[in-house]
Amino acid sequence: MFLAQRISLRTFPAIFTLMTVILSASFSTAQTVELSIDVSKPGAKIDRNIFGQFAEHLGHGIYEGIWVGPDSKIPNTRGIRNDVVFALKALKVPNVRWPGGCFADEYHWRNGIGPQRVVTINSNWGGVIDPNSFGTHEFMDFIDQIGSEAYVSVNVGSGSPKEAADWLEYMTAAQPTTLAKQRAANGHPAPYKVPYLGIGNESWDCGGNMTADYYLSQFKIYSRFVHNFNPAQKDNQQMLKIAVGPGGGEPRWTDWTETIMKAYQQHTWSWDLNGLSLHSYTVGGNWPPSYASVGFGEEEYSKILKSTLDMDALIAKHSTIMDKYDPQKKVALVVDEWGGWYAPLPGSNPGFLVQQNSLRDAILAALNLNIFAHHADRVRMANIAQMINVLQAMIITDKEKMVLTPTYYVFKMYVPFQDASFLPVTFDAGTYTHDNITLPRIDAIAAKDTNGKLWIEITNVDPNQPVEIEANLTGITARSASGQTLTASKVDSVNTFETPNTVVPKSISAKVQGGKLALKLEPKSVTVISIEQ
Ligand code: AHR
Repeated sequence: MFLAQRISLRTFPAIFTLMTVILSASFSTAQTVELSIDVSKPGAKIDRNIFGQFAEHLGHGIYEGIWVGPDSKIPNTRGIRNDVVFALKALKVPNVRWPGGCFADEYHWRNGIGPQRVVTINSNWGGVIDPNSFGTHEFMDFIDQIGSEAYVSVNVGSGSPKEAADWLEYMTAAQPTTLAKQRAANGHPAPYKVPYLGIGNESWDCGGNMTADYYLSQFKIYSRFVHNFNPAQKDNQQMLKIAVGPGGGEPRWTDWTETIMKAYQQHTWSWDLNGLSLHSYTVGGNWPPSYASVGFGEEEYSKILKSTLDMDALIAKHSTIMDKYDPQKKVALVVDEWGGWYAPLPGSNPGFLVQQNSLRDAILAALNLNIFAHHADRVRMANIAQMINVLQAMIITDKEKMVLTPTYYVFKMYVPFQDASFLPVTFDAGTYTHDNITLPRIDAIAAKDTNGKLWIEITNVDPNQPVEIEANLTGITARSASGQTLTASKVDSVNTFETPNTVVPKSISAKVQGGKLALKLEPKSVTVISIEQ
């Protein structure tokens, strides 16, 4: 009675709305989505290299993020931070692209070897001093410590074929050439392995503003004269030479792909091409990037995720051109720069590309990795930008502090998909709509790993509604299923040095009965499960 008296007509509608929200939040019946997976129909291999990373001399990506120097109080091994190495090892990072980026076309490798380093200015990124204390030997030591492989980008814009050829001889020659002896004198008698070589970076822009024809003529020269003298790589692969490719889907970019691929079709013994790069960042249509990386709501969440899905059409567009000239798909499409690119964090150096990394980025990462997996026959390498402290990073550091980002955890959860065989999944994704933005509610991939185990990834894009999954599995007798799920309370939840466990994976298990798997997924979540037979 007392309560009733106090509920005036003015307050009633508000209370009614509040009760509706509470009731629908706590009693909302999850939508059911049926998935079908036929394990007997494996497709292309999901190349482990699509989980590659990119580490450029940019902001605190290398200096402070990886390199602190041997005299630092921060625990390190030969100058490389131990905490970062430990964290990255768990990701089984297949390859690391270095030293850039735009930086690569101003990098002169001789500045970064030997006891006397040449101090230079990083004119691309903030005009800061680069002491060159992190050079070839330190990079190779780093990838060795994390158990990865080198993807080295050589300087086309302001370097020369001779400079690049000398670098490769310095790194890879086993014979006692002057350069190989210099390498030995600098501490590494054994030749290094360089399985992947990028020839220039964004040569249509920061790499020298070249036309496609001009770049092609440069590429042919580099491809002809830059030799790898230590070609016995993992899987007995020769060094793969990767050309600069498109940076979008407009005619200027499709023309670029046409030019390179048409030439490839007619290539002779004297030059070769094994990969064509593609760069595509998720910026939500804004340049310079202006979306906030933290402190945003559902509008920015839905817009950014909608725009990241453009990656699929972009890959399809360039793959179609590649198919025309290379129907056997010998040339890989290498998405060696991708990720969310947002406004610099307030107070940070705008040239350092510092941003936070939220649950939205975890979902963005999962959606893109799934797109790459869908195109596994052509997309055989990708490098998220970037590894540490820059753009969509795995790790954020500040002096001795380190925090793992939501994106880090997605890469960790996806490790079983490295080199697994893609399995088609059929489902009706449904839709999630916010204002006038509509996206598929669900995304999923499945794969059989090298031991024959089935793995399924399901992303629930909807930030408000859970989803009940019912998966029909054929070609397998499933007994149980379990795995991990990543979510948090808000679309912009982040891990900080003070609260590092806001967005971390939790264990999840699923019921399996009569070949059917039932699983409830939380809103805005990324889930990876494996099936026990
Ligand atoms: O990743 C940051 C920059 O973005 C790279 O240096 C460049 O290649 C791209 O434009």
